Amino acid sequence: MNTNTLSPSPLTGRTALVTGGSRGIGAAVALRLAREGADVALTYVNGKDAAEDVVRAVEALGRRAVALRADSADAEEAAGAVERAAQALGGIDVLVNNAGLGVLGPLESLSLADVDRLLAVNVRGVFLASRAAASRMTEGGRIITIGSCIAQRVPGAGGTLYAMSKSALIGLTKALARELGPRGITANIVHPGPIDTDMNPADGPFADGQAALTALGRFGTADEVASTVAHLVTAPYVTGAEFAVDGGHAA
Ligand SMILES: NC(=O)c1ccc[n+]([C@@H]2O[C@H](COP(=O)([O-])OP(=O)(O)OC[C@H]3O[C@@H](n4cnc5c(N)ncnc54)[C@H](OP(=O)(O)O)[C@@H]3O)[C@@H](O)[C@H]2O)c1
Repeated sequence: MNTNTLSPSPLTGRTALVTGGSRGIGAAVALRLAREGADVALTYVNGKDAAEDVVRAVEALGRRAVALRADSADAEEAAGAVERAAQALGGIDVLVNNAGLGVLGPLESLSLADVDRLLAVNVRGVFLASRAAASRMTEGGRIITIGSCIAQRVPGAGGTLYAMSKSALIGLTKALARELGPRGITANIVHPGPIDTDMNPADGPFADGQAALTALGRFGTADEVASTVAHLVTAPYVTGAEFAVDGGHAA
């Protein structure tokens, strides 16, 4: 065996869309996929500068990148982002449904507007983007959705709305796997545990309690989630599966 032969980056020539890629887990996923060779589109809503920073970081790796302002809460924008990404990059091989909101609180504190907005972003936007991507993907296509450890184990009160939304994504993922499997397209879901991001900072008021719920006793990093997402992009015989990247939160 010639050990001097460099293998090409596994995702060279592939194109990916990461929703909510301007910060946190989405930004880490965008960079990880680019490091493995993919050209990347990412969506954002408010974080234009942060999104452009991620674009520059991807370009510095020698890959193409584009930032698209697209609100997943808006039905047309959620599906339209897939079309815009495919046009900008020349196709779409990988969709990472990452954009999501966390709204927690006692049942009586959750307004109808909270319910509608959270379901629009966390569930309807994921369905619409997945459908748009599936219509464009060819064999080898990958749909990876970011769920939550809360969809596997609810460790306390206040998570009704968020847990409901993330649990819906498990059903969507399994059904997508069945529907798209005959075309050689896979669908999987990754459940992060407490991950240090703007949404859930490791020095936030509830951080110690969350860390204590994990077997490893600590928050995870966005990069630790991104490495599992990247693995799933290169895993042709894995579909309809759930992956906990949660430090043992579900153990
Ligand atoms: N952090 C955790 O502990 C944790 C645990 C389990 C699951 N998750 C899930 O992981 C995913 C990412 O979370 P994160 O912690 O990285 O969040 P984050 O730090 O709050 O980042 C959220 C990202 O999503 C974008 N975004 C927010 N609303 C959007 C919308 N309506 N349309 C399009 N993009 C939108 C934001 O863009 P702007 O910059 O424009 O605002 C940003 O890029 C979410 O689905 C979340 O539920 C997180």
